[in-house]
Amino acid sequence: MQADFPDLTLQVPATDADETMLQRAEPTSYPTSSLKQLPADWQQKAFTPNNGEYQLAPQFRSLVQFRQADIRVDQPAELFSLILCRNLVFTYSDEPLQRQVLARLSERLLLGGYWVTDKHKSLPTSTTGLVPALVRLKFFPLD
Ligand SMILES: C[S@@+](CC[C@H](N)C(=O)[O-])C[C@H]1O[C@@H](n2cnc3c(N)ncnc32)[C@H](O)[C@@H]1O
Repeated sequence: MQADFPDLTLQVPATDADETMLQRAEPTSYPTSSLKQLPADWQQKAFTPNNGEYQLAPQFRSLVQFRQADIRVDQPAELFSLILCRNLVFTYSDEPLQRQVLARLSERLLLGGYWVTDKHKSLPTSTTGLVPALVRLKFFPLD
């Protein structure tokens, strides 16, 4: 995207409630299995092989901030163009909590922004202003 949008800056806050998980993610070195769905050319551009694993390249590493946050209660200060939330609240929580999290975090989504969730999940959308976009991919843009 940089060629088309040279002024675009990226910031990627990456959150988890569990400190141990953050410690595992923070070295940004991942087994091949973690990258298997990444297109090969992206993999080559963004990762370098390192001792049998793949290391996120420094120019991308510096954009990611790992931090502890409980999705049930913590509200990020920033506004986002994209929220990725997979295999967590819409998989393991009941619908009231799903609605609560969705309503609260949707407030941090910029107009025209997207919420991306699991391929096989649907979001409880009625109260949030989110409308399904690419349903096959489970993209929900804010109306
Ligand atoms: C099944 S994993 C999914 C991880 C990742 N989203 C993925 O799809 O590969 C669920 C993660 O959610 C974290 N988690 C559990 N409860 C949480 C909460 N209340 N707030 C934030 N993260 C939580 C767990 O520590 C775990 O790392």
